[in-house]
Amino acid sequence: MPPKLLITGATGLLGSHILRAARERWHPVGTYHRTTRRQALYFFGETDHGRIDLADYSETKAMVADVQPAAVIHTAAITDLDYCEKYPDDSLQLNLHAAINLAALCGDLDIPFLFTSTDLVFDGTGAPYAEDDPPTPINVFGEHRALAEEAILAVYADAVIARLPLLIGYGSMNRESFFYKLVAAFRSGLEVTLFGDAVRTPVSAAVAASGLLQIAGSGFEDDVNIAEIDRVVDRLHLGGRDQTSVFELGLQTLRILGLSEQLAVPVSVLDSYAGQLERPFLAARSANVALDSSRAYELGYDPPPLPSQLEELIPHAWRAPSRVEDIPDLESEPVDPNEDN
Ligand SMILES: NC(=O)c1ccc[n+]([C@@H]2O[C@H](COP(=O)([O-])OP(=O)(O)OC[C@H]3O[C@@H](n4cnc5c(N)ncnc54)[C@H](OP(=O)(O)O)[C@@H]3O)[C@@H](O)[C@H]2O)c1
Repeated sequence: MPPKLLITGATGLLGSHILRAARERWHPVGTYHRTTRRQALYFFGETDHGRIDLADYSETKAMVADVQPAAVIHTAAITDLDYCEKYPDDSLQLNLHAAINLAALCGDLDIPFLFTSTDLVFDGTGAPYAEDDPPTPINVFGEHRALAEEAILAVYADAVIARLPLLIGYGSMNRESFFYKLVAAFRSGLEVTLFGDAVRTPVSAAVAASGLLQIAGSGFEDDVNIAEIDRVVDRLHLGGRDQTSVFELGLQTLRILGLSEQLAVPVSVLDSYAGQLERPFLAARSANVALDSSRAYELGYDPPPLPSQLEELIPHAWRAPSRVEDIPDLESEPVDPNEDN
């Protein structure tokens, strides 16, 4: 029986990709919260799993005792920045306290614990950010993640903090990711305002998941050897190799979709403070939070270039044959009149 890997937030964008990829080497056990058991069964198949409120310590403790994992990847979080700003207590319970509690439980069991943090612990004025740069959060979400990082390492020194960049890809059935909404809006012909000065180092959720599994499983070696996690110390950045503004990401997406670049409308992060946006944000947004991930690259994390990740994410069936070379050349391929017989 392969070792058990507990993945919290397994119905989320990242957790669902980890769960799928982990099946190769682990016995993955996923948890979720608002998703119904029926939906989860449909989504997870027969992988055992459980509905849980990780903000409840006794539930969390009982779940860990029941599952007896060999390692834990903690992705469950409230990731909506504006929700966290409006309901800071909810964010505090899950994004901070639940993470510390889970880390402490893993410390008691002496098993690997990976915490998925974020590039949004930085304010955007000092990019590219390396692991040792001090966090400078500018919104509630970033503040609670930064506090969690610190507290987790205080309760369990062997925990690993993996800071992730903007993730692109599609979430599970009941959750629409940023990228899904972007592509859906473009395909409906809608204009989307995108920050031209919000620079990130995006990777697909699948690439991030494989990086996390490399850390959890083997310390970047081929075999599952959870003791190897010791090679990864404290904090590790899992950013992509391309520094890209969110607006540029939109343009690249439109080019692959074969749609007009006019659908991406550049705005500035500063506009969100100056009340220039139609739908103002509650939480402050950072500008350039590009991650310097050279430490992870040295260990073997190898994200493909962003354009090829985007190509992979956008099905050919969604692409408009707007470029001349994409339109089938009917003259050079005579139609066979018997084809339909
Ligand atoms: N997405 C990004 O671009 C990005 C970028 C940087 C870092 N990250 C980090 O990656 C991690 C995962 O992000 P994500 O985008 O995959 O999140 P997500 O799609 O918003 O999913 C969040 C997950 O947490 C679960 N959850 C929410 N409240 C819970 C509770 N009280 N108890 C137990 N589970 C609960 C949800 O379950 P239900 O769906 O069943 O409610 C869901 O599975 C987070 O730590 C985030 O900081 C993400």
